[in-house]
Amino acid sequence: MGRIAYVNGRFVRHADACVHIEDRGLQLADAVYEVWALFDGRLADAEGHFARLSRSLGEVRIAEPMSRTALTIVLREVVRRNRVRDGILYLQVSRGVAPRDHAFPKTPVPPGVIITVKAVDRAAAEAKAAKGVGAVTTPETRWGRCDIKSVGLLPNVLARQVAAEAGAAEAWFVDDLGFVTEGAASNAWIVDGEGRLRTRDTNANILRGITRFTLIDVIREAGLTLDERPFTPADAREAKEAFITGAGALVTPVVSIDGRPIGDGAPGPVATRLRSLYIERAKATAV
Ligand SMILES: Cc1ncc(COP(=O)(O)O)c(C=O)c1O
Repeated sequence: MGRIAYVNGRFVRHADACVHIEDRGLQLADAVYEVWALFDGRLADAEGHFARLSRSLGEVRIAEPMSRTALTIVLREVVRRNRVRDGILYLQVSRGVAPRDHAFPKTPVPPGVIITVKAVDRAAAEAKAAKGVGAVTTPETRWGRCDIKSVGLLPNVLARQVAAEAGAAEAWFVDDLGFVTEGAASNAWIVDGEGRLRTRDTNANILRGITRFTLIDVIREAGLTLDERPFTPADAREAKEAFITGAGALVTPVVSIDGRPIGDGAPGPVATRLRSLYIERAKATAV
């Protein structure tokens, strides 16, 4: 059985799925998106991702395409039709199709909805996490509303390419003050010399990662100390450990920054423990 996508009310073969050339998501990046990790066919951190989707839509004034209940049914149906157990579920909502004009269409049009799912090989992901990944730093070039999960990802694309060309998995943006904001598609963390878990606070211009929020609960329950104080690439180089969080990365140890090893250059005990505690929690609460 081939892959199935959902596009504007219809389940279609992935290979044949298409949108109108004047979909505003395509021409103007006038769209937002959301991503859920799937464990055993169920949505991880479901509530947080639904809430952030509603917030993103509200901030850019795109109408909710359907009720939460209906959307949940459609998302599950895409997962079911693709028989994916462990994977990544992608939803994109655009302002819809209208003759190209920067301002909103004068007569509102229905939002454009795309849903796709892909399987993830969890054993391969575990092997990757056990080795750890590299990160590189790159100047922050994004707009001032990174709290909105917009499909306008060109700076993130370019940053990830910088990482790819350096043989690294992630790029960490560094703002004008010299502090790391976040990764191109993940939140950035270090374990500092005092054993504190450091990550950028959500008043900064970052995406409010749902994995980040869940992990904060896990950190508190584990009796570890959270410190939302910004850190520099130099702090990261001197840190005991580093890691990234996201629906794709879950919790993945970072073992080098700009080609220099962090600690002994291997995944540290804190990141490794937090990864397994996070996955345990995500599996237990997936719906
Ligand atoms: C820029 C950015 N920051 C952080 C994250 C992590 O967010 P979440 O944990 O909700 O997946 C993502 C995820 O795609 C992202 O694109």
